[in-house]
Amino acid sequence: MTHVIVVYASKHGSTHEIADAIGAELVGAGLTADVVDAKEVRHLEADAVVIGSAVYMGRWRREAKHVLSRQAETLRAIPFWIFSTGPVGDPEAETEDAERWLEPAHIVDLATELGVRGHVVFGGSLTDAQGSMQRMMAKNMPEEFRDRRDWDEIRAWARGVATELGAPVGS
Ligand SMILES: Cc1cc2nc3c(=O)[nH]c(=O)nc-3n(C[C@H](O)[C@H](O)[C@H](O)COP(=O)(O)O)c2cc1C
Repeated sequence: MTHVIVVYASKHGSTHEIADAIGAELVGAGLTADVVDAKEVRHLEADAVVIGSAVYMGRWRREAKHVLSRQAETLRAIPFWIFSTGPVGDPEAETEDAERWLEPAHIVDLATELGVRGHVVFGGSLTDAQGSMQRMMAKNMPEEFRDRRDWDEIRAWARGVATELGAPVGS
């Protein structure tokens, strides 16, 4: 059976929840999946890998970046996908340069060089704001934009990954 490792890097937990949803969708599609904190990754024994990181100040978290660079040779040999999570707030209010804060270009470049099958940005969340900066951002934000994670979008993306890995159609 095709085994997928879903690696996540999360400071406050919302990316972890996205990784869990992706893992559950892959299992629902007939694959096996482990969801693993990037900090715990020493090697990747899998048929395919998904790596996701929360984005802070336009950057991936260090431990996710390390997985990408330190596991480069493994990733080169198997199908893998990456996702970034972050954008919160009113999408209408995003400025023109918002793009560069969503998905670090050097991460996409490195992943592309390793043969990444796809990369995507999922909305982020400040709902369980724990840090002082998070709380300040959340306070100034209308409630409906504090959690922009779209679970249907996340599940559909994971199903696409499963399909590319040959999961039985309609499972
Ligand atoms: C100080 C701070 C900086 C942030 N910087 C970015 C950013 O540059 N780009 C982005 O898309 N989201 C940014 N965010 C939003 C977070 O990425 C979002 O809250 C995400 O869901 C956090 O994931 P986590 O709960 O897994 O840590 C920032 C949030 C905080 C508190």
